[in-house]
Amino acid sequence: MKLKDIEQLFHKDLDALFGKDEVSQFFYWCIESFYNLSRLDIALDTNLSITVEEQPIIINALEQLKQEKPIQYILGKTEFYGLPFNVTENTLIPRPETEELVALIIENLQKSKTLKANSKVPINILDIGTGSGCIAITLAKNLPNAKVFALDVSSEALKIAKSNAKLNHVDITFIAQSILEDFNLETKFDIIVSNPPYVRELEKVEIKPNVLNNEPHLALFVEDNNPLIFYKAITEFAEKQLTKNGQLYFEINEYLGVEMKRLVANYAFENIEIIKDMFEKDRMLKAEFIG
Ligand SMILES: C[S@@+](CC[C@H](N)C(=O)[O-])C[C@H]1O[C@@H](n2cnc3c(N)ncnc32)[C@H](O)[C@@H]1O
Repeated sequence: MKLKDIEQLFHKDLDALFGKDEVSQFFYWCIESFYNLSRLDIALDTNLSITVEEQPIIINALEQLKQEKPIQYILGKTEFYGLPFNVTENTLIPRPETEELVALIIENLQKSKTLKANSKVPINILDIGTGSGCIAITLAKNLPNAKVFALDVSSEALKIAKSNAKLNHVDITFIAQSILEDFNLETKFDIIVSNPPYVRELEKVEIKPNVLNNEPHLALFVEDNNPLIFYKAITEFAEKQLTKNGQLYFEINEYLGVEMKRLVANYAFENIEIIKDMFEKDRMLKAEFIG
């Protein structure tokens, strides 16, 4: 079958759902991933075809796209901060907002007088709720002096995170642990970062079906009556585990910036800042441990 004809099939079945441009993108990601072919290959040879044996994988992908399964889960991979990551239904698909959090940490370290990126002095970093490992691995990749630890309660997520550390050639110490339980680690950290579950049940109505029906609820949702449960546990843990002047970074629920600042201010932290994302939504919190 000609790839051009399959492209037409994608548009016929999916344009109404996703729009023409996104469907083209899906199609080209599929042919690159399944057949190692590019948009240019098809442009240069409009008769380019695949064999009958090669067909089922892309037709199957089309069927899954019709069911609104995210393309990242169909292909089993995505990109974050320019790096490749494996993803499965046990890991959240990394979001652009989280790339902003990583960029903020790297930028602050580059400016910092005490904790310097690129110096020889090691920086210990802990990522809590690592999922695919996107935050931990990207920091390890971009900060040569970082010793990075990553924790998650989900053993399935940790398996994928480990495969991603290997894929990106970085050394991460993984910890299987619930942050909601009381525990200590021997290491003290200069930076603790987390993008924990923060979507309230009441916000489910705002969540698109492709997210709701496919992404792990363990990674997303918190109860309406205790939406900051993870932030409270992590802030208390950070008080025990951060070095003096250590930094705490959170990705936060856009609706709970004020509440988040108030929560962290109850503990031994100063210079608490709420930072907006590219959509002008309250999305990140940075605070310094007084020690
Ligand atoms: C919002 S996801 C973030 C994943 C990844 N860090 C990212 O930014 O894409 C939250 C993560 O917290 C993990 N998690 C949920 N409950 C947890 C708990 N009690 N202790 C530790 N991690 C937990 C989930 O498995 C999930 O990987």
